[in-house]
Amino acid sequence: MPVCPAALGLPAERVEAVLRAAGAAPSLHNSQPWSFRLWRHLIEVHADVGRRLPAADPEDRELRLGCGAALLNLRLALDHHRVHPVVTVPPDGDDRTTLLAEVRAGQRGSPSAESERLYGMIERRHTARAPFRERPVPAELRHEMIQAVQREGCWLHVVGRGELGHLEGLVHRAHRVQMADGRFREELARWTGRDVGDPEGVPAAAAGPAPEPQDQWVLRDFSAGRAPRREPGLAFEAQPLLAVVSSQDSGPRAEVRAGEALQRMLLTATAGGLVASLMSQVIEVAETRQELATLLGGGWNPHAVVRIGFGAPGPPAPRRPVGDVVEAGTSASSP
Ligand SMILES: Cc1cc2nc3c(=O)[nH]c(=O)nc-3n(C[C@H](O)[C@H](O)[C@H](O)COP(=O)(O)O)c2cc1C
Repeated sequence: MPVCPAALGLPAERVEAVLRAAGAAPSLHNSQPWSFRLWRHLIEVHADVGRRLPAADPEDRELRLGCGAALLNLRLALDHHRVHPVVTVPPDGDDRTTLLAEVRAGQRGSPSAESERLYGMIERRHTARAPFRERPVPAELRHEMIQAVQREGCWLHVVGRGELGHLEGLVHRAHRVQMADGRFREELARWTGRDVGDPEGVPAAAAGPAPEPQDQWVLRDFSAGRAPRREPGLAFEAQPLLAVVSSQDSGPRAEVRAGEALQRMLLTATAGGLVASLMSQVIEVAETRQELATLLGGGWNPHAVVRIGFGAPGPPAPRRPVGDVVEAGTSASSP
């Protein structure tokens, strides 16, 4: 029994494969805050507001980034199945709707080599929270990531050596603010340190090593205190490559776009043999986010801080079954 109806000229099994690829996108705490409403000629991408993370993400910025990342995967997967997607994003301003994007079928035809290369990375990309090797990221790969982000209408600011100290201070400050908030600690504990077999949240096995006081960059403990003690001498890289996905516009549309840019960048990094993790504290605390915007030179809205390098890929985090994220459109809910 198929879990989805046919859509955009694709049979049910292909639609299911497309939605599975969309759902492999990264999301804050692996909350997977998306749902897809399927019509014969339309796929709607919705925010699943039942999966909000109000303590870490009170304005749903990162929720929309995750949905944008899922939208990019959806586009690549449709392309793979020879349907060129045409995406419309509704204008900002209607707070009552959860609709973030509408995807229709354009021309049918073969995908580009670049689209296929990135499609092939969707299942291979996993957040890597362990220390990276002390090997610099070559200039060509940095350039490819910058181009990937620009292709989605955003900007990737590679943090310069002279800016690292300032950013480090912001990360520590944001971390302290969040950890002093009982609601934040409770939410983090609820979504992390999950057992194998849980279809959502961050599994303890993907949490990376437990933070230690000597660490230069505070990374969150995603294991809910379950990470084993670190092997002696296992230290984080001294000069991480940090980059900030930003956009000129702000608001929900810009956040969906930034999610698409983030995901195109992460898939490009994976194709280049790199691994990555995110450090979102600075983005989540309004005051440090504003300081980061100033550090970027003003005029840019920062959306995601990404740490990139060479290292072992993280283990896969689980996903909800496709049947849980899909809804068939009915005439009663016609668009
Ligand atoms: C907007 C956003 C913010 C995130 N922030 C963090 C973070 O601060 N620290 C972290 O280790 N992972 C962060 N992640 C990664 C998620 O925890 C990860 O995507 C999720 O657990 C699914 O795992 P996967 O990326 O391996 O598929 C973030 C992801 C997104 C999309």
